[in-house]
Amino acid sequence: MKHKVTLLPGEGIGPEVSAAVRRILDASGVHIEWEELAARAVNTDKRTIGAEVLNTAAIESVRRNHVALKGPMATAIAGGARSVNVALRKSLDLYANLRPVKNLPGVKSHFDGVDVVIVRENTEDLYSGLEHEVVPGVVESLKIITEKASTRIACFAFEYARKHGRKKIHAIHKANIMKLGDGLFLRSVRAVAEQYKDIEYKELIVDNACMQIVMNPVQFDILLLPNLYGDVMSDLAAGLVGGLGVVPSGNIGDEGAIFEAVHGTAPDIAGKGLANPTALLMSSILMLEHLGERPTAERIEAALVKVYKEGQHVTKDVGGTAGTQEFTDAVIAALSKA
Ligand code: NAI
Repeated sequence: MKHKVTLLPGEGIGPEVSAAVRRILDASGVHIEWEELAARAVNTDKRTIGAEVLNTAAIESVRRNHVALKGPMATAIAGGARSVNVALRKSLDLYANLRPVKNLPGVKSHFDGVDVVIVRENTEDLYSGLEHEVVPGVVESLKIITEKASTRIACFAFEYARKHGRKKIHAIHKANIMKLGDGLFLRSVRAVAEQYKDIEYKELIVDNACMQIVMNPVQFDILLLPNLYGDVMSDLAAGLVGGLGVVPSGNIGDEGAIFEAVHGTAPDIAGKGLANPTALLMSSILMLEHLGERPTAERIEAALVKVYKEGQHVTKDVGGTAGTQEFTDAVIAALSKA
């Protein structure tokens, strides 16, 4: 089957890692017609979301094709334009952030045998962007939790568990303090859990969950979290297996999905041919699964694992000496032998 996929290469190392992943996917034989576009563009066809200008062509392309692969884009910290990443997720209502975290052979990590999937609510909580200065020196940021969003992310997590043969879900919260907000999240999740008796359901307070995951990550299967805790814990979990360079992510909604690496634009190495495409490649593997191309996804994953096992052609950030090109060639060579 032929798929049409929007490719948003992004900024910094984005174009380098996107080109590498595109080469690998094209070499795998999967039929993808790429529609390549810049997501951040100031042109006549534009829409303003907050202070950010988004290229409507990019949004419309994702709407039309339903699937996109995206490189990193820079975000200003404390002031400046609002995150393009957040705006894209919001305008397409990509309510589920999916981050599978597992070890790659040869990548230095604190633990072996980690295999945890993080399901993070992606549209509300403290990311609603509702902030204002009450009086000088006092700022109010609103945390929004709704029954609708909590229920649909819970349904997503339980359905994902069933589809992928996962056995256990922990809902992570702070309902002992935020009794109303996190309380509503928990009540909504419990109602969904009732309908999935085949999946073990547990709850953990977020601070305890952080301690537990750094002491014994192997105990976890799926973590289900509201937006902010999900953001923090997914990077924490990535740190257990070697960092952001080796974990994928997907932002998924009912009408579309964007798969992206969770690292940033790496301005320090951009344009030098040193970037590691692994995270975007793993995100593209998630994308292929989403497109129903599981056998190709598995072949690419096997080729990637082989390159890491052999350790001859891995990039500097994971202890090797290879550049982007050499690593990409090695994955394609492994793929052709698979
Ligand atoms: P970063 O992830 O860009 O860089 C942190 C460190 O990791 C740097 O030393 C960098 O060289 C290294 N690194 C990151 N990705 C790598 C890769 N694929 N291969 C080899 N080394 C890699 O984080 P930083 O510096 O905090 O952010 C830079 C910019 O990226 C900021 O403007 C930020 O807003 C943006 N950003 C965008 C994201 C997105 O589009 N999803 C996510 C995170 C940050």
